[in-house]
Amino acid sequence: MILVTGGCGYIGSHTCLALLRAGEEVAALDNYSNSKPEALVRVQKLANRPFPFEEADLRDETALRRVFEQHQIHAVIHFAGLKAVGESVQKPLEYYDNNVAGTVTLCRVMRDFGCKRMVFSSSATVYGSGNPSPLTEDMPTGQVTNPYGRTKYMLEEILKDICAADPEFSAVLLRYFNPVGADESGQIGEDPRDIPNNLMPYISQVAVGRLSRLAVFGNDYDTPDGTGIRDYIHVSDLASGHVKAVEYANRQTGARIINLGTGRGTSVLELVAAFERANGVKVPYAISPRRPGDVDVCYANADKARRILGWTAQMSVDDMCRDSWHWQSQNPEGYR
Ligand code: NAD
Ligand code: WQD
Repeated sequence: MILVTGGCGYIGSHTCLALLRAGEEVAALDNYSNSKPEALVRVQKLANRPFPFEEADLRDETALRRVFEQHQIHAVIHFAGLKAVGESVQKPLEYYDNNVAGTVTLCRVMRDFGCKRMVFSSSATVYGSGNPSPLTEDMPTGQVTNPYGRTKYMLEEILKDICAADPEFSAVLLRYFNPVGADESGQIGEDPRDIPNNLMPYISQVAVGRLSRLAVFGNDYDTPDGTGIRDYIHVSDLASGHVKAVEYANRQTGARIINLGTGRGTSVLELVAAFERANGVKVPYAISPRRPGDVDVCYANADKARRILGWTAQMSVDDMCRDSWHWQSQNPEGYR
């Protein structure tokens, strides 16, 4: 059985669905600090398969041990953690405690139960601002500008150390680029608690009328239209990447770092235009000052994922816009 931590969250819920559809046995845990159990209720309906999920905090070792006692877990896909860059600057201790200490606790319990396979949610943020795109996995990391990014960098290093100490341990460290979109059913999707920090949920909430207009953070970057370029990837493509990654973790040992991106860059204004075109809606926007810490361009070299996992992203930017809107327009208040 595969344990999915943070399984109720945005990427976790889509990955649970993909795993169930691939016929895998799945259990999920989440402390619901940034999600609602309704997401997994809907996953069960979509997959037409019940599966166990429970409320547990990563940092609660007793609760984790109970989960490992109840289920025969051979691999963990580890999503649980806090992810808001700005908040991490205000609350570094919460981020180091949740992300770093939580993962250390999880690894200790895995060790005690002889579970030696992990797929870990890392982030393109570990590349920092010093590397040119397309970003390849062998580029230097560590020059991260915020505590959230540093937790991802530290956890990559910790997992490499665990692999070095135990030759049977397998860790697949997936560096995601910018996950967007939703399952095509429109039943599950991204449900930010407050005003969204990220571009696509912000655009969707403007389009649905929850927010009045988008602030485009800077149009004086060194890019063709002056706005920032990112590698947006459909969350269902990301989910299928995890199905491949956990299969890969079963047949290899050691630490492997793999980008999950499309290899294509899209600017803020291109994404706004694609959203309007794909959905026939207007997204009012105004140019605002740059957001501190943003880089001009960030996109993946996606060759390693194709070579090693046999995975490439299939969905277009228009698909991403259509599915984001499908979810948002059917669920204007998210899971509430
Ligand atoms: P999310 O917040 O939707 O999901 C994370 C889940 O973990 C939530 O359901 C939350 O309740 C849970 N959680 C948090 N702390 C926990 C704890 N201590 N114990 C148990 N559960 C806990 O975020 P997401 O977008 O699905 O991201 C999943 C992972 O991918 C995170 O580790 C994130 O850092 C990483 N990541 C996300 C992005 C992105 O843009 N969404 C990009 C790169 C990496
Ligand atoms: C995308 C582009 C903004 C909002 C963040 C994290 C990163 C990773 C993914 C977890 C940029 C512009 C945004 C808005 C805008 N998460 N923008 N107006 O910053 O690439 O990455 O999420 O690991 O670590 O930093 O994503 O969606 O916030 O921004 O103009 O209201 O949209 O300037 O160019 P980002 P984003």
